[in-house]
Amino acid sequence: MKFFIDTANLDQIREANELGILDGVTTNPSLMAKEGITGQENILKHYQNICNIVDGDVSAEVISTDFKGMVEEGERLAALHSNIVVKVPMIVDGIKAISYFTEKGIRTNCTLVFSPGQAILAAKAGATYLSPFIGRIDDSSWDGMELIQQVAEIYAVQGYETQILAASIRNPLHIVKCAQYGADVVTCPLSAIMGLFKHPLTDIGLAQFLADYNKANA
Ligand code: G3P
Repeated sequence: MKFFIDTANLDQIREANELGILDGVTTNPSLMAKEGITGQENILKHYQNICNIVDGDVSAEVISTDFKGMVEEGERLAALHSNIVVKVPMIVDGIKAISYFTEKGIRTNCTLVFSPGQAILAAKAGATYLSPFIGRIDDSSWDGMELIQQVAEIYAVQGYETQILAASIRNPLHIVKCAQYGADVVTCPLSAIMGLFKHPLTDIGLAQFLADYNKANA
């Protein structure tokens, strides 16, 4: 399972990259706005900065909601760097745009996915990645992980090549369950990745090892 970081914050991207386990980055318009990145030129420059830090796929989201606008934006984004993946919302024109990009050899990430039916449409259109929003499904009192399981089963049975990129990850347990249930990628906030390190017995055990060493070597 690949690890992406879900942020537009360059410091956090660098910190995750330094762990040596980072495979890519996802962003969305909310995450860009959170970092204060506004205006077309600044946004494009920011994507380039991210591509210069991480040697892996970087999802850059279109903000148009019509086919023509998505195609124009997506082609501009894809031309920025070979690692850019055009992120397109799961709407009718989005599926048309993904089909177009697939024909043109431009890689895509179909975002805002909440159902298996949407997952089938995205795969049929040839999306490179599918982004089911696990945390937001959990927020609505349904089980986001059930969607991961169901889509993983459908894609395996049908032989679809679209990769399941579990998004809206909120905690380390989401990451573990995604690995268990067959997600190809998880995109996580840095806090969820760092949470994977935590275990008190590791800390207690290390403290004991060092105490014993220091005593024996005093
Ligand atoms: O990649 C989509 C993700 O950023 C959404 O996460 O936490 O806003 O639901 P969240």
